Amino acid sequence: MYNFFMKFYEQLEKLLTQTNHKTKIEEFKDFYQKYKNGECSFEEGYEKKLSEKPSYESFCKVVPPQDVPKRKNLTTKEGQVYLLHAIAHIEYSAIDLALDAAYRFSGLPKQYYDDWLEVADDEVNHFLMLEELLNEVGGHYGEVEVHNALFEAMQRTSHSLLERMAVVPRYLEANGLDATPAILKKLEKLPKSEMLERIIKALHVIVDEEVSHVQKGDRWFSYACEKEGKEKDVYFEIIDRYYPLWLGKKKELNVEARREAGFTCNELKVMAHKEVC
Ligand SMILES: [Fe+2]
Ligand SMILES: [Fe+2]
Repeated sequence: MYNFFMKFYEQLEKLLTQTNHKTKIEEFKDFYQKYKNGECSFEEGYEKKLSEKPSYESFCKVVPPQDVPKRKNLTTKEGQVYLLHAIAHIEYSAIDLALDAAYRFSGLPKQYYDDWLEVADDEVNHFLMLEELLNEVGGHYGEVEVHNALFEAMQRTSHSLLERMAVVPRYLEANGLDATPAILKKLEKLPKSEMLERIIKALHVIVDEEVSHVQKGDRWFSYACEKEGKEKDVYFEIIDRYYPLWLGKKKELNVEARREAGFTCNELKVMAHKEVC
């Protein structure tokens, strides 16, 4: 008889290596529905493959971060294409990051897998929302050069749940909580247009939902600390190792969102170089 149960890790591996972005999203939606219906089985002792190259490499030209074209005038279509492409690419990369969190680490409580598949589902929706706007301004995903910084962070943390949770959700995604309001501020100052209003609305949805991703990262970072008998301030040691210059840059922190996502006032004080709460 045909077995309707999907194999969890095998299926995630297929999704992670799927290079057609439309197929990947369709297959994810199908997989996620089956997962929520309890139609998935976790394989014992599954041999995980290391990701060697990002799934978007077949249709996006990857360049160093400083060579990604910058958004120019955001009231023009060209400027909007660059902006929407850059954010759509972050969201698309984030789909793989969430899928890989679920794929990479075995033997964790079911809540862990629920959490990261829920994040993957949010990232799919964020990507689709931006892709729709990108198409409307005459662009398409894959036409602008992109960087692979998120993929590299994922690759470098494949050996450790503790480091993955510190670096990906609790550092990189948390940085997004600071960056998006700054983009919003810029956009809100520009002369109004229907497209700009829609971009602003989409970015608000994203920044609101990203808080829960960082929160989930915080939950599993704390879990990993406890398992390894470490204090939570090991976070600073880890991020210092991956991004040695991170505390040197002065930047505006989104204190409210970061507090909601589990950062303590003490952590924020170190990052902001002053008391912020
Ligand atoms: Fe997102
Ligand atoms: Fe996210």
